[in-house]
Amino acid sequence: MSKIESIGILTSGGDAPGMNAAIRAVTRAGIFAGFKVFGIYRGFKGLISDEIEEFSTQNVSNIIQRGGTILKTARCKEFQTPEGRQCAYDVLRRHGIDALVVIGGDGSLTGARIFANEFSFPIVGLPGTIDNDLYGTDSTIGYDTALNTIMECVDKIRDTATSHERLFFIEVMGRDAGFLALNGAIASGAEAAIIPEFSTQTDQLADLIDHGFRKSKNSSIVLVAESPLTGGAMGLAKRMEEEYPQYDVRVTILGHLQRGGSPSAFDRILASRMGAAAVDALLDDQRNVMIGIKNDEIVYVPFTKAIKNDKPINTELINTQRRLSI
Ligand code: F6P
Repeated sequence: MSKIESIGILTSGGDAPGMNAAIRAVTRAGIFAGFKVFGIYRGFKGLISDEIEEFSTQNVSNIIQRGGTILKTARCKEFQTPEGRQCAYDVLRRHGIDALVVIGGDGSLTGARIFANEFSFPIVGLPGTIDNDLYGTDSTIGYDTALNTIMECVDKIRDTATSHERLFFIEVMGRDAGFLALNGAIASGAEAAIIPEFSTQTDQLADLIDHGFRKSKNSSIVLVAESPLTGGAMGLAKRMEEEYPQYDVRVTILGHLQRGGSPSAFDRILASRMGAAAVDALLDDQRNVMIGIKNDEIVYVPFTKAIKNDKPINTELINTQRRLSI
């Protein structure tokens, strides 16, 4: 394998808190290892249009605490075409960049895998997404911060729900995964979590809520994962209102505020460890792997496994949530 002398870093797909900490870690560990490091702006889109700058350690000063990504991010249709990827390859060659670190979610790592295979180009991925839906790592960069944001929001909604004795449906992100909804429900003591991995009928949900109100609860909060499989908070609230008009129902969609904010200590440390590990992986001749952390150990997860395998929801969490919300 040819020796790597120069690496490019990009962030792609939805931003996630901790991406900056990861950029900082890759840059500094890369420079420490003797690599030239290039920041590539706007993900694969900026790679194709040659938005590239050489980074020194100062370029990543004072960013560990900042949400978003200093490299900006984008979702890029052109990179899905062979012509777009050829153009990206030519740009990399022109800059003498001989390896990439791609920080992003499922879609970004899928693009990275195709590109790596097509051009035999060394790429290491870092799991950067609030959804926590990448297989092979206990947590993705941004997930913990988003979970804390959800918890704080639900705590606030609880105040008004209690005062008005209302039933709230709160929709959280996660694309097709229920990690944010389920763990958000446990952390905030919500009455139920509706997630795509498990189907819940409206009459089951109504029974549970009814039981709570009869017992002594004067408000209820249901966290709903945004997936089409759950019907989203709006859909579910509508069905409940039609079938059970006794409830005073309100809906809150937390939306993109879940992606912002200063990363938690957990995410900063996770991103720093993963970023340094990405450089180690390249030095170690690892190719086409995503860095994961499992049981506190760095692991290399082949792209195919990280992307294709559905990350399972731990059923112990589902049981715990149900038992503790009676
Ligand atoms: O993948 C991260 C995520 O925030 C998902 O939870 C959500 O479905 C999606 O991105 C929203 O994407 P956009 O910002 O493009 O609307």
